Parts: sequence; C-alpha cells; structure tokens
Amino acid sequence: MPRDRTMDKPQENFPSSLIAAIDGIPVLPPLVARIGSVVSNPESSVDAIVSALRMDPILSGKVLKLSNSAFVGIPRTISSLKNAVVLLGQKRIHSLVLASGVTSAFRNRDSVPFAIHNYWKHSSVVAAIAETTAKHLKRYEAIETEEVFAAGLLHDIGRMVLGCFFASTVETARDLASREKVPVHEKETAPMTHAGVGALLADHWNFPRALRDAIAYHHCPGCAGDNVRLASIVHIADILAHVVGAHTFDTEAIPRLSPEAQSHVQLPPERLKVIADETLQNEKKLESFLSFLA
Ligand SMILES: [Fe+2]
Ligand SMILES: [Fe+2]
Repeated sequence: MPRDRTMDKPQENFPSSLIAAIDGIPVLPPLVARIGSVVSNPESSVDAIVSALRMDPILSGKVLKLSNSAFVGIPRTISSLKNAVVLLGQKRIHSLVLASGVTSAFRNRDSVPFAIHNYWKHSSVVAAIAETTAKHLKRYEAIETEEVFAAGLLHDIGRMVLGCFFASTVETARDLASREKVPVHEKETAPMTHAGVGALLADHWNFPRALRDAIAYHHCPGCAGDNVRLASIVHIADILAHVVGAHTFDTEAIPRLSPEAQSHVQLPPERLKVIADETLQNEKKLESFLSFLA
C-alpha cells in the first residue's frame, strides 16, 4: 500500500534557489511593517492604531470601506477611521494589514499557474469558515477568533511563492493530482511543499509563531505542537472550503481529514457542513472582503 503522505511534517532542507527567491521577496513593505508593529502590539491604544493606519491613506480608505460593507453588516454608517478600528478590533485590523502587505508583495505576478481570484476566494472562504468554527468552539474555551481569520487567509501563501518562482513544480503536482484524483498537496515533493515554503515566507516576514505554525502544519495539524488547535481549525476549514467548491485549482480532490484535527475540533460533521454552507451563501460578505484584497 502506498505511504500516506498527507500527514508528513514539512521538511526544512530547502534548495538554495528557493532561499534566494524568498530573500528576493521584499520584507513586508516598510510602511505595512511599521503599521503592523503598532497594530500587533496589545499595548497600543486605538489612537495609536489610527495614527499608524493614517500613514497609508489607501489602506485607511480600504479599512473604512470594509467597515461599511456587508463584511461587517451593520446598518449604520461608519464615517471615522477611529470608529472603524473599534468596530473591527485590533486583531482583525492586524489581519487586514498583513493581507494588504501580502497582496501588494505579490502584485504584478500573474504568471502563476492558477487563477489569482480563485486563490484569494479559497483563502477568504477558509478564513471565514475557520473564524465561524472558532466562534462555535469559543462557547467552550478561549480562542482568539481574529487570529484564526488571519491563519485561514494566509494558510496557502506558500502556494503563491511556488506559483511565482517555481511554476513548473506547481503544474507537475497539479497535473499528477488531477490524473490520480488525489489532493494536490499529496503530489508535491518535499521540501518544495506549499506548507513548508509558506512557513519559510512566514519566517522571512516575522509572522507571529502561531500564524507561522498554522501555515506550516495545516496539512499536518498533529505536528503543530502548542499550536495544534489553530492548525486543526484551519485544516478543517480548508477541507470544508473544498467540500463547498471553493478551491484554487479547477479540479481538485478534497484533502483528507486528520483524525488529530478532528479530536481538537469536536463539532459534529453536520454542524461543520452547515457552517461552510452558510459562509458561502453570504456572498456579499465574501465579495466585500475580496474587493478589500483587490
Ligand atoms: Fe494547503
Ligand atoms: Fe487551502
């Protein structure tokens, strides 16, 4: 019987060509990094966050627009950045700042072997499902739901790196997986897996450890150590996004469920399916967020 590679731990002996490619990706745009450092500091006041965001008028405008969209879904108009920050919350603003940095770092790289829109739609659906799942779990224990959103949004970021710099490795995995009707990540060859490469980029960008581990281990949640809960939520949200048809590649088999993730996210399958369906039905909310990323 062939070895099940789905739960393999990402390896770290990356080729020098990959290290060079990652080094060539700018550290998050300086402005985004500066804003991020203020926004990620739990000691920062709302006023400090507002002042930091104001350094980037485009980002501030997008945050304001998002807070008035179906993404938030409140009936009154939010006209000040300060109110938008209070409404969205510090962690959520941090996710938005990171997402904005990531999209700008990969702008003008449209030679990737998948549709960028599908990539971000998959990522947004995973983020939304992960967040809703965490809210359900939060009834029982403390979970940072906003952190879950960022992890869901950025979980496949390694795929973007591979797509930009090593497109043929992505194409090979995609074509083999399609022929054998297995998930694409099972046909990636270590160390050039999107999870491992994503972790490398997360290190390059100094992402918080929990976020880095969720990226590294979303296909191997049992390997995530202290962050097994976060990796498990993202793992399950990723599977559900595939179940409801939000995938990056046109034809893609659904990743296999890790029993370890199941034991950390104890919600019945029917409940999870309802969460996924509801997320996808809320199209306006998703579209508002996708336009933030555009
Ligand atoms: Fe993935
Ligand atoms: Fe994914």
